[in-house]
Amino acid sequence: MEITFPFEEIKISGSVELEIGCGNGEFLKFIAEQNRGINYIGIDISWESIKRASRRLRDLGNVGLVWGDAYAFLMFGAKHLKFQRVYSLFPDPWPKKRHEHKRLFSEDFWKLLSLRVIEDGWVWIVSDHLPALLWYYDNALSSGCWYGYISEGRGIFETKYARKWKGMGKGIYEGMFQLIKPCDFTIPEITLRIPKMREIKNASIVGDYRIGDFHLSIKEVFVSEGAVLIKGIISEGRLIHKVWFEVKKIGEFWKVEPSDFSRFYPTKALQLALDLIANELSR
Ligand SMILES: C[S@@+](CC[C@H](N)C(=O)[O-])C[C@H]1O[C@@H](n2cnc3c(N)ncnc32)[C@H](O)[C@@H]1O
Repeated sequence: MEITFPFEEIKISGSVELEIGCGNGEFLKFIAEQNRGINYIGIDISWESIKRASRRLRDLGNVGLVWGDAYAFLMFGAKHLKFQRVYSLFPDPWPKKRHEHKRLFSEDFWKLLSLRVIEDGWVWIVSDHLPALLWYYDNALSSGCWYGYISEGRGIFETKYARKWKGMGKGIYEGMFQLIKPCDFTIPEITLRIPKMREIKNASIVGDYRIGDFHLSIKEVFVSEGAVLIKGIISEGRLIHKVWFEVKKIGEFWKVEPSDFSRFYPTKALQLALDLIANELSR
């Protein structure tokens, strides 16, 4: 059972389907056992869920798991994939108005998803929370790339959350969405330029920095001879990069780069963060 991170590109030939927020892998197991000729990917942001799912799915050769955010995965890790079907059973509904922006199926998410689904591909969402499902529906339609409808859930597969909500007597609803056409949506990926500086004058750079629409929080700085290690978090709209930056002396210059072991996405915000760190260190 392979577990990858969202920025690691997955290449699969043949049919592939995706479950977003796969939880403990119950639905993936059910569907992957029935369709051995189809490849399945399950993604979840919780390590506990991925651990449980990997145990449950370990004997299935047609399933892979991704640990991390679905938005980042669709943007980077899935850029060579076209899913036939995408499932999401009980995505977190974030019921409070002030948390609405945390919901996954925003208009941008639908636009991005439209690039990763085959021509007549579809998305199936199950929820106990009708207002959230209607919000997903409105966003799908306003993206201009999806057609969809909502109905009462009929014979839904019983995942942990299906049992939980049914047990509490809640209604269950489902949304079916079919791709009309891929949206016009640009992936903010760039080729990183590694900044260089002649000397480090100041390593006390812990703090919060705003760079245009992006936010960089430098949490910790470790200084040793010939190297500085910096722990930072970049918020770029929905994308969160947790990055360790390495500052190393190579020849006569110091170079600032994201370390190989951190999870980063090559975007404009990351470039701005590298430039800002180089600037701050050399001030
Ligand atoms: C309510 S649970 C549903 C789990 C499972 N589908 C079920 O029905 O039992 C929602 C799941 O979505 C995952 N999740 C939330 N936000 C996510 C994101 N941005 N990317 C991937 N998974 C996410 C959570 O970790 C959680 O496992």
